[in-house]
Amino acid sequence: MAAVFELAQTDAVSWLRSLPAASVDLLITDPAYESLEKHRAVGTTTRLKHSKASSNDWFSIFPNARFPEFFAEVYRALKKNAHFYLFCDPETMFVAKPIAEASGFKFWKPLIWDKKRIGMGYHYRARYECILFFEKGKRRLANLGVPDIIEAPRVHNGYPTEKPVEVAEVLVAQSSLPGELVVDPFMGSGAFGVAAVRNGRSFAGTDISKDACRITKQRLLELSAQPGRLIATDSPESWAPERRVRKITRGEAA
Ligand SMILES: C[S@@+](CC[C@H](N)C(=O)[O-])C[C@H]1O[C@@H](n2cnc3c(N)ncnc32)[C@H](O)[C@@H]1O
Repeated sequence: MAAVFELAQTDAVSWLRSLPAASVDLLITDPAYESLEKHRAVGTTTRLKHSKASSNDWFSIFPNARFPEFFAEVYRALKKNAHFYLFCDPETMFVAKPIAEASGFKFWKPLIWDKKRIGMGYHYRARYECILFFEKGKRRLANLGVPDIIEAPRVHNGYPTEKPVEVAEVLVAQSSLPGELVVDPFMGSGAFGVAAVRNGRSFAGTDISKDACRITKQRLLELSAQPGRLIATDSPESWAPERRVRKITRGEAA
């Protein structure tokens, strides 16, 4: 059973608005939150200043002021009983949590991605990142024995702030079933899409960056016998939509 995927190159919120209400089984995402700029400005994320995989030195930031419209659309797009995971730093956690709750989500806890080795930082060296665990309605986790600390080393394949596929695979296994639809509206290099497709889920995602879309498409094509199909783009000439793949409908897997 091969999973299918669809990618778009456009703004996260406008793309989410284009999805039918209650059509998504699981949403995992990692926005370009604005405190990343603060870390860059004080030089604690120098490795993020240039991406080998990208013609851009850095990606555009998604301002915290846009969180209310973003969370409202995430809530609308998710099915009645579904989970939502938001990767962020501890600073953004305090901003994002109340806004997501105001959109209707139940906040359970921050999960911790333990990178296993220290990184940059002048105020205790950074070793972890938060993954905020939200719920719409009620959905039981697949395995109640999984701990709230997920260990995986950082990955350095070139895209800035790329996340390990193994971390997302834990979330995919916990909060979706084979054939269900996993969505990421800030997909970057596509790590969450890879985790979904590798585990027999369908995937739909967007990113504002052309390089991100190119990298994700390449990674997913390598995984899937069926090519993806672009459903929306701000620069249609840069994409050649594949015609062999059907449009994803909810939970469909070929
Ligand atoms: C932290 S990165 C995601 C990294 C990804 N999780 C990975 O593993 O590679 C955030 C992404 O958000 C994208 N982005 C910034 N503003 C956006 C917007 N308004 N809509 C969609 N994507 C946006 C950036 O281009 C960047 O690729």
